[in-house]
Amino acid sequence: MMSDHCFTEILPSGADPARDWGRHAIELLLADARRSADTHMIKPVFKGLPGISIYFKDESTHPTGSLKHRLARSLFLYGICNGRIRPDTTLIEASSGSTAVSEAYFAHLLGMKFIAVMPRSTSHPKVAAIRQFGGECHFVDHAGEVYAVAEQLARETGGHYLDQFTNAERATDWRGNNNIAQSIFEQMQAEAEPVPDWVVMSAGTGGTSATIGRYIRYRNLDTRLCVVDVEGSAFYEAWRSGDASVTASGSRIEGIGRPRVEPSFIPGVIDHMIRVPDAASFAAARVLSERLFRRVGGSTGTNFYGVLAIAAQMQREGRTGALVTLICDSGERYAATCFNDDWLAQQKLDIAPWRARIEDFLDNGRSLTA
Ligand SMILES: Cc1ncc(COP(=O)(O)O)c(C=O)c1O
Repeated sequence: MMSDHCFTEILPSGADPARDWGRHAIELLLADARRSADTHMIKPVFKGLPGISIYFKDESTHPTGSLKHRLARSLFLYGICNGRIRPDTTLIEASSGSTAVSEAYFAHLLGMKFIAVMPRSTSHPKVAAIRQFGGECHFVDHAGEVYAVAEQLARETGGHYLDQFTNAERATDWRGNNNIAQSIFEQMQAEAEPVPDWVVMSAGTGGTSATIGRYIRYRNLDTRLCVVDVEGSAFYEAWRSGDASVTASGSRIEGIGRPRVEPSFIPGVIDHMIRVPDAASFAAARVLSERLFRRVGGSTGTNFYGVLAIAAQMQREGRTGALVTLICDSGERYAATCFNDDWLAQQKLDIAPWRARIEDFLDNGRSLTA
């Protein structure tokens, strides 16, 4: 009797061009990682805060200038290892800019076509960097439109939507593999207080905070995770209420604060959230930039203000300890916004009172909120 099985010819091992391309692509991505050392941990001295150590993990020093270099590499590895990225795949991404810069870099490395879907307000240096790496930019009017347009472009081109907002939390190996959390905690090991009291991080995809929160639990550490959110973002309300369907108007701080609750935002690993006013974020970014002698971006300002809010509470309670946060990217990308007084005035943001309070807190330990 004839079998109803259908046999196709099995190619001999090594005769599949897509697999060969995949091997080569993975090797190029891993070689790129091997050429980088770990990013710095910076510990400035703030004389108004005796007994409280503040560390900044400086992710601006990656080859593509932001923490998103790690994510972009992970998304490429994830797509290739799942067989979704093949030699001639067009890559599409929805982004507020930083991730697209890093993805354009990796697409260029692999010789692939890349299209970034971004709000029209995305900073010019990011757009220039994407184009420099051969990427195309497709603009939308509002941050909430990026997802549907990216999906549509992927359908039209038969391409692959990298979808950082969904895949960030799953493409990153949260248990280790030199992820951001493992890197932070290993660098802290030789410090006087190797287990920080808090790690403070803002959320865009939510992927970085998810990795840090999961790692803390996996390693049974006493550290707590505080996520800082901004005006116009859905995350804080979703965390507070438990309602993931919350929406918001959209954020002014590039990279963080989203109009919807992104699938990579994992509220269960967050111990505390703080809402930081935008004026405080921009003021904190300016103060930190002056203290570090180089500009940091607005989301780093949000992180810094969150750290200071926790330091203020520790100080009130007479506690000492260590706090860690991230420098997400350089402020050179935001000369037209965060570092432009006219833009701040147009946005009706008065950062002067926030600046004065932050300076007084850092130098004299006087109340941050007075
Ligand atoms: C400048 C900047 N800071 C912070 C973040 C937030 O990181 P995550 O997406 O891991 O939440 C992003 C994300 O795009 C970013 O671009």
